[in-house]
Amino acid sequence: MKRNVLVALIVAFTLSLNAQVKKTFSIQADKPTAKVSPNMWGVFFEDINLGADGGIYAELIKNRSFEFAQPLMGWKKIGETAPEGTFLVLNQKEKTNNPRFLRINRLTGAEKLGLQNEGFRGMGIKQGLRYDFSVFYRQIKPGVKLHIELVDTTGTIIGKGEFSPDGEQNTWKKQQVSFHATQTELKAKLNIWFEGKGIIDLDMISLFPEDTWKKRPGGLRADMVQLLADMKPGFIRFPGGCIVEGRELATRFQWKKTVGPIEDRQLIINRWNTEFKHRPAPDYYQTFGLGFFEYFQLAEDIGAEPLPILNCGMACQFNTAELVPIDELDEYVQDALDLIEFANGDVTTKWGKLRASMGHPNPFNLKMLGVGNENWGPQYIERLEIFKKALNDRYPNIKIVASSGTDPDGERFDFLNQRLRAMKVDFIDEHYYRSPEWFLSNTSRYDSYDRNGSKIFAGEYAGHPKQVEDGPSENNWSAAIAEAAFLTGLERNADVVEMASYAPLFAHVDGWQWAPDLIWVNNLHAYGTPNYQVQKLYATNKGTDVIPILSDGQLVSGRDSLYASAVIDHNQKEIIVKIVNHNAQPVEGMFNIQVKGKLASNGSHTFLTATNLNAINTIDQPDQVSPQTRPIAIEGKKLNISLVPYSFHVVKIKMQ
Ligand code: AHR
Repeated sequence: MKRNVLVALIVAFTLSLNAQVKKTFSIQADKPTAKVSPNMWGVFFEDINLGADGGIYAELIKNRSFEFAQPLMGWKKIGETAPEGTFLVLNQKEKTNNPRFLRINRLTGAEKLGLQNEGFRGMGIKQGLRYDFSVFYRQIKPGVKLHIELVDTTGTIIGKGEFSPDGEQNTWKKQQVSFHATQTELKAKLNIWFEGKGIIDLDMISLFPEDTWKKRPGGLRADMVQLLADMKPGFIRFPGGCIVEGRELATRFQWKKTVGPIEDRQLIINRWNTEFKHRPAPDYYQTFGLGFFEYFQLAEDIGAEPLPILNCGMACQFNTAELVPIDELDEYVQDALDLIEFANGDVTTKWGKLRASMGHPNPFNLKMLGVGNENWGPQYIERLEIFKKALNDRYPNIKIVASSGTDPDGERFDFLNQRLRAMKVDFIDEHYYRSPEWFLSNTSRYDSYDRNGSKIFAGEYAGHPKQVEDGPSENNWSAAIAEAAFLTGLERNADVVEMASYAPLFAHVDGWQWAPDLIWVNNLHAYGTPNYQVQKLYATNKGTDVIPILSDGQLVSGRDSLYASAVIDHNQKEIIVKIVNHNAQPVEGMFNIQVKGKLASNGSHTFLTATNLNAINTIDQPDQVSPQTRPIAIEGKKLNISLVPYSFHVVKIKMQ
């Protein structure tokens, strides 16, 4: 146990001896009220804050194909002064998706010349690990040899390899060279030195570590995926977020451009490149190395249902608000239909065949699809109706997720809420980025929702603490405990709310645009925030059926700053109680359990608390706010638990 947590507990315990507030809770395990959806707690993925490129996508080279608006962004010429015309950016007409390449004209062969790539805010390199360098090259005049070096911040070489191109003249060839790193470095760079005399063309210059998730070449950062897998998420929503919409339609997310061979995927600017003037990211692009195939594969790997969100014919309404005319919407609708074929179609279908060629002949078993992200107004409804008809006609079993805009209330929300319910959409996607106080005072939000209408997908939410700025510090305990309290209201209403995901998911400490975020990373490490710990406790203790938990005959939803929900897990034969004490004083909780059979005499008590409401986790101290678990004794059908100040508890009781 961390020392500061221990001190807090001792202080809390001492206080508790003096002025113990007692509360009785009755758990009605014999009266289940609703089923919990197996997909209930999921994750929201968007390429924001270097979430994909520079984040979970393990590529270490920035601008590997020279397709950024500035073709040499991320690259620097190194060595002696290069004669004019040594490095040329050229285009090849036949490759429309990735036309640019770099020509190295080593005319005299005399100078020491090279190129350096700076990575995404540097490259995270681990001692002893193998690194795979690859490049597409074409020898115009054979004779140029390549020397590859990883260097630390002082310029010291920490890994190297070399190769002599042997491909046929004037023909593109891919070649790889692997080498091991001799040192761990957070912000390494890669040098490529050219030796000899000749002319060579280069494209798709790439460097991957060997330790990707499942050791897949060209894959994902294993530590980041592991944090997701540990949550056992019920679904993964992708690829966003605003990125679905694009600032304008031309830069909307188009899934078809993200599948097939990597070298043919056309990159586009990332909308978070320019979105916030105070957080500029001029080097932020989407290379789509993490594309729709990889998203589906990731979902399968971590046991989550895939939930793609597609553009509905509208660009971001905060930006250009560009619209596709209704009579030109076909292409967009077709993209949705084709995506279902890509995910689920037989290998004899056009898109099913592509999936199979990428290594997954079995279907991905897609069950739901989002149409639009944070779109609103009659223009959205008009487009959604067309999508809905086409999707329902062709794929009646695919559930449709529809947007309720950017806010959980107000005129826009009310208009959409009424229209979407009238349309009987399967899921309404609600978003709330609000203060911790909002979360605490809205725990009853779903108690009065229509039980028979559209289901709710709480698709993006996060507590945004006031007066706290600067990225990682926004993920403090005040926000996380308020979310924990709010989620009791979602769990209690699991017959209405069938899915929920915190947003955004990832942020790089040196490259973020939006905070707070669930998981923070640098080039070598990743950690879960207090908010992550809350999400994980819910997701790994979701149970199968909701049961009432009452105090003085009433729901525990804010009175005396206490919040609670409870479930049964029929598979594990467990009662699971979640309870938040949002008081500065401890509360002695006395739980009476109504259950048909007997209870085991022991159980477990897991709790999250912190030294103060501003407490956070960091790269150096990733476990400051992390769960502690202890065994508990149960006497008959009674149980006492001390709820320390500002704490979140998960109590598990075995049924016999
Ligand atoms: O999660 C960050 C952004 O918040 C998402 O891209 C968008 O949907 C919302 O406005």
